[in-house]
Amino acid sequence: YNPLAINAQEVLKVGTEPAFPPFEMQAPDSNELTGFDIDLFRAIGEEVGLEIQFQSMPFDGLIPALQSKTIDAAISGMTITAERAQTVDFSRPYFQSGLAIAINKENKGEISSFEDLENKRIAVAIGTTGAKQAETIAGAKISTFDNSAIALQELSNGNADAVVNDAPVTLYAIKISNLNNVEVVGELLTEEYYGIALPKNSPNLEKVNDGLDRLLQSGRYRELYQKWFAG
Ligand code: ARG
Repeated sequence: YNPLAINAQEVLKVGTEPAFPPFEMQAPDSNELTGFDIDLFRAIGEEVGLEIQFQSMPFDGLIPALQSKTIDAAISGMTITAERAQTVDFSRPYFQSGLAIAINKENKGEISSFEDLENKRIAVAIGTTGAKQAETIAGAKISTFDNSAIALQELSNGNADAVVNDAPVTLYAIKISNLNNVEVVGELLTEEYYGIALPKNSPNLEKVNDGLDRLLQSGRYRELYQKWFAG
């Protein structure tokens, strides 16, 4: 009999790459993580009785960390792809997203589609669907950065002609930062869905899906969506 165990909650180690606002980011005034994904996973934890411990790591380290079970789950604006689903399991989709091209306003009119990016300098974030997309463009000179915040800064500084990145993240960065000379062109160029990634055959998959279902039904998901994406 262990009296301490009575209220013990199972701890889930959750990896994230925290330079992807508004999904995950460092709070400006502390070392805490904040963002839509962070709130969402905490809320899932409350629903299904899991204590969530976040762990920051590079985006391209998340899947290896899941494979080695260094972490129990990853929430990181991660797109569900067939390739990734070969090595990890995904929760039900929780957010619809897609790639967009950002340009430096000085080049306005030159670039509005992936075809226009041929032979251009493209900045991307490592290990992302945006990076994969850029690799398919003929003659593209790709520079890869640790995260999309740095890639966008490079674009703003004139060191790249375009950034290929998740639209909601690029739009948010333009809104809240000093990227005055950066803008998004055209429309969403792909349709992607974010999922929470877990090791293959994780016993937690069902709980996570259960939690997501409950948040969607109770209106709590909607509240979180409003909090981070309204206006
Ligand atoms: N959705 C894109 C992908 O899955 C980018 C995600 C990047 N997330 C991050 N937290 N840095 O490749």
